[in-house]
Amino acid sequence: MNVERLRKDFPILDRKVGERPLVYLDSAATSQKPKQVIAAEEGFYRNANANVHRGVYALSVEATDAYEAARARAARFLGSRDPEEIVFVRGTTEAINLVATSLGRSLLHRGDRVLATVMEHHSNLVPWHFLREYSGVAIDFLDVDDDGHLRLEPLEKLLEGGRTKVVALTHVSNVLGTVNPVREIAERAHDHGAVVVLDAAQSAPHRRLDVEKLGVDFLAFSGHKMLGPMGIGVLWGRHEKLEGMPPCMGGGEMIREVHTDRVRYADAPARFEAGTPNVGGAIALAAAFDYLDTVGWEELRAHEVRLLERMVRQGRERLGERLRIFGPPEPKDREAVVSFALEGAHPHDVASLLDADGVCVRAGHHCAQPLMDRLKVPALTRASPYLYNTEGEVDRMYDALEKVARLFAPARGSLARAS
Ligand SMILES: Cc1ncc(COP(=O)(O)O)c(C=O)c1O
Repeated sequence: MNVERLRKDFPILDRKVGERPLVYLDSAATSQKPKQVIAAEEGFYRNANANVHRGVYALSVEATDAYEAARARAARFLGSRDPEEIVFVRGTTEAINLVATSLGRSLLHRGDRVLATVMEHHSNLVPWHFLREYSGVAIDFLDVDDDGHLRLEPLEKLLEGGRTKVVALTHVSNVLGTVNPVREIAERAHDHGAVVVLDAAQSAPHRRLDVEKLGVDFLAFSGHKMLGPMGIGVLWGRHEKLEGMPPCMGGGEMIREVHTDRVRYADAPARFEAGTPNVGGAIALAAAFDYLDTVGWEELRAHEVRLLERMVRQGRERLGERLRIFGPPEPKDREAVVSFALEGAHPHDVASLLDADGVCVRAGHHCAQPLMDRLKVPALTRASPYLYNTEGEVDRMYDALEKVARLFAPARGSLARAS
């Protein structure tokens, strides 16, 4: 993988922050976009813009064909043979809200249980909390160990008895980088009749996904974290599951017929796509899939492991005990999402001071407050590299971090580990 050549595809990487070249290490929040993706979206609005599914004129048919081709491309990206298993949504948040709301109207009743994990992003938690608050559904949680691996010992007991109707978990933690054993969990959930909902927001950008191999029933991801535009994402649902589910939002396009006294809904996926969809976004997302396939998933992984190893090694060599990196220590168990605490410095101060050096990292609870509680930290700083980052940029982050460390040097004798 030639990173220098590939960087030329990303116009934003040429810009400066103040006087400094931009070092963008916040791709877990949103990735930058290559010119091929920008051109695909622009091309739609320049050449093919019309509303889809409702026009008989050539331009509308063209727009519809392009939109449906993007759906087929998304299916192929996920290893699904059926484009009708793809529902276009705004992103992961909307996808999981859709599933939770729809299952809340059909499958889940008072006294039923949902099993989540303490490492879930709020997007895969608050929609289930809605069901707890309004429908009397209970939520159980799988914990993590101190290295950030899921603790699976209680799984069997939690699934026993058939009250757990849904297992909702993330593929990759947006804080710890942990890659969860999805297939194993899905098999065990299915043995007890539970439906499995996978949040793939942090895995889709980094690894080739195959819904058959993962063995889940629903999978959600956001285009903007994987080189695509904001406002477009995918909910994949197993055909037989989507077919049995009630719609979530009502409006145009999702109906078969509407009268004053009754309504009949369209089949999936139209049933779940009320209103005018983000056609330009879907077309640009298809361009993002093409881009990532061209880069190559093995090459991408090798590059990210190199960056991850450099981050960990530099952290140890340059900041020693003052820096604590969270998540599994072995690169094979994780993605390159690196959350850390610098002793004596608040994560927000760290992120602001790095910004003064042109380095973009994120600080806060990362929409994962249950995990912050579990780790007993109020917040963390997170660096999340992607295919366009270089080892030199990792070094620049540490140059800046060393300055921060000097500024917040603890009084002698208080070099206890940050926690
Ligand atoms: C694991 C995970 N799930 C869900 C989301 C929500 O994604 P979006 O804001 O694109 O809906 C994120 C975003 O940070 C995430 O990291």
